[in-house]
Amino acid sequence: MPDRDYPRILEAPPGPNARALIERDERVMSQNFRKDYPLVVSHGRGAMVEDVDGNRYLDFAAGIAVTATGHCHPDVVAAIRAQTERFLHMCATDFFYENVVALAEGLARRAPGPGPWRVFFANSGAEVVEAAIKLARLRTGRQKIVAFYGAFHGRTFGAMSLTASKPVQRKGYAPLVPEVLHTHYAHCYRCPVNREPATCSVQCLDLLTETMFGTTVDPSEIAAVIVEPVQGEGGYVVPHPGFLPRLRELTRKHGILLIADEVQCGMGRTGRLFASEHFGLEPDIVTLAKGIASGLPLGALVARDEVMQWNNGGHGSTFGGNPVSVAAALATLRLLEGGLIENAGRVGARLIEQLRARLGRHPAVGDVRGLGLMIGVDVVRDRGSRTPAPELRERILEEAYRRGLLLLGCGKSTIRLAPPLIIDDQDADTAARILDEAIGAVTA
Ligand SMILES: Cc1ncc(COP(=O)(O)O)c(C=O)c1O
Repeated sequence: MPDRDYPRILEAPPGPNARALIERDERVMSQNFRKDYPLVVSHGRGAMVEDVDGNRYLDFAAGIAVTATGHCHPDVVAAIRAQTERFLHMCATDFFYENVVALAEGLARRAPGPGPWRVFFANSGAEVVEAAIKLARLRTGRQKIVAFYGAFHGRTFGAMSLTASKPVQRKGYAPLVPEVLHTHYAHCYRCPVNREPATCSVQCLDLLTETMFGTTVDPSEIAAVIVEPVQGEGGYVVPHPGFLPRLRELTRKHGILLIADEVQCGMGRTGRLFASEHFGLEPDIVTLAKGIASGLPLGALVARDEVMQWNNGGHGSTFGGNPVSVAAALATLRLLEGGLIENAGRVGARLIEQLRARLGRHPAVGDVRGLGLMIGVDVVRDRGSRTPAPELRERILEEAYRRGLLLLGCGKSTIRLAPPLIIDDQDADTAARILDEAIGAVTA
C-alpha cells in the first residue's frame, strides 16, 4: 500500500493559527451553529485536509457529504478553470447554454425509473425541495405534503416545515407552511418490535394507512410524500427492504406523487448513483444537491416529463445551473460513472464489516449500519437499552479529531462516516482504527 502523509498531528489542535482565526470568527460571524470541534482549514487534496497549523486529517466528513470526488480533484479543477475562461454566469432561466443541457441529459439518462425525465437546476438542497413542493401542488391541485419523523429537507420555510429531525431546527420560526403532516419512517434500529430489518414483519406504513388515513386525512388530499431513501441527518437510517416499495404502491394507488430526497444519499454515495436503485424505487421526483458538483453550489430537481410541467414563468432561479457549478458537476458525473460509484460500494461494504468487527468490543456502540459510504455508528449508554448518549458521541468526535480523523454527528447520538468516494482500503482501515481508538480512549 502507498505511504500516506496523513493523518499527521504536529501539535495538539487547535494550534495558535487556528485559535487566532476562531477569535476573529467569534467577533464577526453569525454564531448560529456550535461546531463539533475547532478545525480551521488551510487546504485539502483528495481525502486529506490540512489545518492552518500544519496538522493533516483524514476527511470522513467531506463538508457534510459534499466533496464526492475529494478535495480539488484535478479533473474537477480543470473543468472549473476552463469554464471560468468562457463565462461565469448567464442565467439558465433566461438563456440557453450547452453544459447545463449536457448535465440535464446525463442526469435524465440515469434517473431511477422509466423516462422521459426533465431537470430544473437551483443552488442548494433546500431550494430544490422548495421547487418539489411547488411542483407537486401545482400538478396535483392538492395541498397536503407528508414527510417522515427524523427527516431533514432543509432550512427554508417550505423545506423546514417538512424537516422533523430536531426541534431546534423549527423552534421560534412559526408559523410554518401549513398542510404538512409527519409519520413514522422505517426506524428498524429503534423498533421495539423487531430489530432485524431483514426478517421484519412489522409494516411501518400501517401507521400511515391506518392511523393517518384512518383518522385525519383522506389520501385524495395529499399532493406528495417526500422521503429520504436512506435517512441522513436523522441518523443514517437504512429502511428495511419492503418499506420504500410499499410506499410506492400506496402513493400510486392514491394518485400521490412520490418525491425521493436524494440530496444526501444520492450521487453515488451509497454505491449506486441514486439510493432509490437499491430498493427498486421509481419516484416521480428526485431532489439532488450536496455531492453533485464536488463542492460547488448546485441543486437539481429531476422529475418525470409528465410531472415537470410548470406554468410559463411559474418557477425560476437567477443562479440555478450556474455554468461553473455545472462544469464541476459534469466532471463529477464522469468520475462517478468512471469508477467512483463502484468504489463507494466496495470500500463501503468492507468498511462496514470492519467497523462491526472492531467496534463490537465497545459496549457504547449500539449499532453499525449503512450503504456504501453512508455509514452510521450509534453511540449508546449501554447496548442492551440502546439509550442514546449524545454527550459521549460529542467527546468521541472531538477525540477522533485530535487523532487526525474528521467525522460528524447525525441523529440523536450517531456518528456519521461520509468520506469522499475516492477513498481506498488504506483510508478506510485508518478511519476504523482511529475511531476504535477514540472510542476506547473516551470510554476507558
Ligand atoms: C436529505 C437532505 N435534503 C435537503 C437538505 C438541504 O440541503 P441544503 O443544505 O443544500 O439546503 C439536506 C442537507 O443536509 C439533506 O440532507
